[in-house]
Amino acid sequence: MTSNIKPKTIFTGDNLPIMRGMNSASVDLIYLDPPFNSNANYAAPIGSKSAGAEFKDTWTLDDVDNAWLDLIETKYPALNRVIHAAMTNSDKSYLIYMAARLLEMKRILKDTGSIYLHCDPTMSHLLKLVMDAVFGKRNFRSEITWKRATSTQKGSQHRSLRWGNNVDTLLFYASSLSTSLSPERELTESEVTEKFKRVDENGRRYYDDSAHIWSSPGMGARPNLCYEWRGFVNPHPSGWRLSRERLEEEYQKGNIVIRPDGKLERRKYLEDYKGTSYGNLWDNILPTSGNERTGYPTQKPLALLERIIKASSNKGDIVFHPFCGCATTLVAADRLQRDWIGIDISAKAAELVVARIREDQGLFRDIIARTNIPKRTDLGNIPRYNASENKTRLYGEQEGYCRGCGVHFEMRNLEVDHIIAENVGGTDHIENLQLLCGNCNRIKGDRGQEYLVSRLNKD
Ligand SMILES: C[S@@+](CC[C@H](N)C(=O)[O-])C[C@H]1O[C@@H](n2cnc3c(N)ncnc32)[C@H](O)[C@@H]1O
Repeated sequence: MTSNIKPKTIFTGDNLPIMRGMNSASVDLIYLDPPFNSNANYAAPIGSKSAGAEFKDTWTLDDVDNAWLDLIETKYPALNRVIHAAMTNSDKSYLIYMAARLLEMKRILKDTGSIYLHCDPTMSHLLKLVMDAVFGKRNFRSEITWKRATSTQKGSQHRSLRWGNNVDTLLFYASSLSTSLSPERELTESEVTEKFKRVDENGRRYYDDSAHIWSSPGMGARPNLCYEWRGFVNPHPSGWRLSRERLEEEYQKGNIVIRPDGKLERRKYLEDYKGTSYGNLWDNILPTSGNERTGYPTQKPLALLERIIKASSNKGDIVFHPFCGCATTLVAADRLQRDWIGIDISAKAAELVVARIREDQGLFRDIIARTNIPKRTDLGNIPRYNASENKTRLYGEQEGYCRGCGVHFEMRNLEVDHIIAENVGGTDHIENLQLLCGNCNRIKGDRGQEYLVSRLNKD
């Protein structure tokens, strides 16, 4: 499905209603670095580029959260059970907030897409269960540990009660089995010195791979690979490892050599070796420093985002960050020629996104800054919400009962209502419609169903 959002758009506002207005299956890669439930308030230092940016990361369970839970219970029972696994009300409130948003992310991610959820040990154990419930356990791909600081000691004279925390966790899930990954590879110093021990006449490092010139006799007879080449033949019927053409090609490249002692040597050169791919312990990406630092609280390094974007997207793909902060993800995506969409609730963040991307030399300059909720364009031709066909169908489905107070009414006394209000991204799609009696509809007004449920529970 094509995106209904112009590439390089930054939205200011709560990401939940904005995501509801985004087309389904329209982004390729989601990286999210949400609040971590750290029980802290973050503010950027005065005088830094980010001065004025702040966000709260404290949670309390309220009526609306409980109402959300009621709604989740009917549609997503597994998710509901996971949320109830949280031990404190604060954790529960945080998980409800995340669950509602992750469900939208699941909808807007393409079938070939990937999602990386950045968190820390405060909530990573519970978020993994939430991710399993939303994206499916079989789509879990990796839990990455990023060593974000080299030391944790603050020189306190007080007795430490726990090991210092200097790692974050990234939970990587795929949309489906068709999601691909091209992990970056790294050549370590020890790989170079231990593996590529030999040096040729021109000073190029290589290792001797002559064991792979002939097929070993144990591989059985391979008549197609039995031939004479430049006076050499394998005495065994297992033949050569390569076809005649490939062997000659390798010889011309200097990878097969006829040594002065008349023996054949196969060489694997360092320059052709890409190294081994990173595992899930990322300890070589340093925290942001120098010019890269904007002073934005919780800023992440560009190198971290570049690694993720390179591995899980292609040029021209859409990278989406619903909690984009000071734009690290968007800058990294732009540099790697990906399109991007960002959302942050803080107006300061949007200012920084625009400034940072414009400053980044040679980057795309026409950034779109929006505050309104987009309208989905992937629903086809559907009737207006209060069309009589909708009312008749809903009356049948609800068997005449009001979805608020639960009382039975004649059809003429029920009104069609948006479950998720239009002003927070709710659509006219039948799945977002219900029948309410006049009284319940008045109480709900243009708010979401969770508000009505919480009000009725109170009364
Ligand atoms: C951990 S920070 C992200 C930092 C970012 N990775 C960076 O490098 O700058 C979390 C961000 O989420 C934003 N935020 C919190 N609640 C939000 C919401 N409901 N919708 C959109 N953004 C939100 C905050 O303003 C903050 O910028």
